[in-house]
Amino acid sequence: MRALLLALLLACAGLTAQAQTAPAPLSDRDQSSAEELELQRTLQGGRIEGRITIPNQQAATLIQPAGREWRAFHNRTLAWVGGVAVVGMLALLAIFFFSRGRIRIEGGPSGQTIQRFNILERANHWMVASCFIILGLSGLNLTFGRHLLLPMVGPEAFTAVSQWGKYAHNFLSFPFALGLVVMFLLWVRDNIPNRRDITWFKMGGGFIGKGHPAAERFNAGQKVVFWITILGGGAVAASGYFLIFPFAATDIAGMQLSHIVHSLLAVLMIAAMLAHIYIGSLGMEGAIDAMSSGQVDVKWAKEHHSLWVEEEMGKTPAGAKHV
Ligand code: HEM
Repeated sequence: MRALLLALLLACAGLTAQAQTAPAPLSDRDQSSAEELELQRTLQGGRIEGRITIPNQQAATLIQPAGREWRAFHNRTLAWVGGVAVVGMLALLAIFFFSRGRIRIEGGPSGQTIQRFNILERANHWMVASCFIILGLSGLNLTFGRHLLLPMVGPEAFTAVSQWGKYAHNFLSFPFALGLVVMFLLWVRDNIPNRRDITWFKMGGGFIGKGHPAAERFNAGQKVVFWITILGGGAVAASGYFLIFPFAATDIAGMQLSHIVHSLLAVLMIAAMLAHIYIGSLGMEGAIDAMSSGQVDVKWAKEHHSLWVEEEMGKTPAGAKHV
């Protein structure tokens, strides 16, 4: 009896194993629905949709092949572009700092200052800058955090950082966008490109070689920073709003495109802003005063914005004050 039971069990196990290794032939119905799916896939470029009766028509999509391309972009292309842009810029700045050193005021400061930016301009600059820095860091965490931060701080801390980072990323987009509008209104007049900018570029902006090219309130390099901030920041903000309000004004393809535009422009802007932050602080003696007290040394101003100083002095002969 025992031997019979054992033989039966072995026979059953053999049948199951057979069923697992050799797939059963498709029935006619299976065969025709597989063919129908294949036909749909070919006709719609691989996209497969069903029919549903619930209001959310997005749920009818079963397979959306562009999603795979988008995932490859997010996991590979973006990480590469972002990594090369940010690390590359940091390396360039380090090379520049160690080869050229800090750009000094020739012969030292004069002790006489002139008003460069008023309180509204400075407050707005710092609002845009602080929002940008938090938006940038929390954004970089979305791309690199899982690979860089998670192994360092562990899952609990990483979850908390990412959750608060995401809240900050969503809510700070509003003061950032408002700051861009105010910045545009305050500074657009002084940032219209003109012929003098070509000469400024030809002379390497005074960074390379000797002599400082004549410049108005903003030199050509600063005009580039201004337009990167306004146009780049504007496009990053606009594409970000498509992502904060999913499917409100676009479909899945639009969401994927918005994400690609948003993330690529953002990493390129972060790299560009690293150069701006360097020149505005460590890289150039006297520059940070313009955005802290608002008063810059007259010698600094004459070196970097000679035409603007002439104009200001002409407006108010007592415009420059002794400190
Ligand atoms: C810690 C970070 C930052 C520092 C130390 C800094 C410093 C400065 C300084 C000193 C100036 C005045 C330059 C002058 O007097 O000619 C300036 C101007 C400006 N900043 Fe910043 N900045 C920072 C972050 C940012 C960020 C993140 C943005 C944009 C998202 C930005 C956008 C601008 C623009 C558009 C101008 C006017 C054009 C120019 O001077 O380049 N800044 N910044």
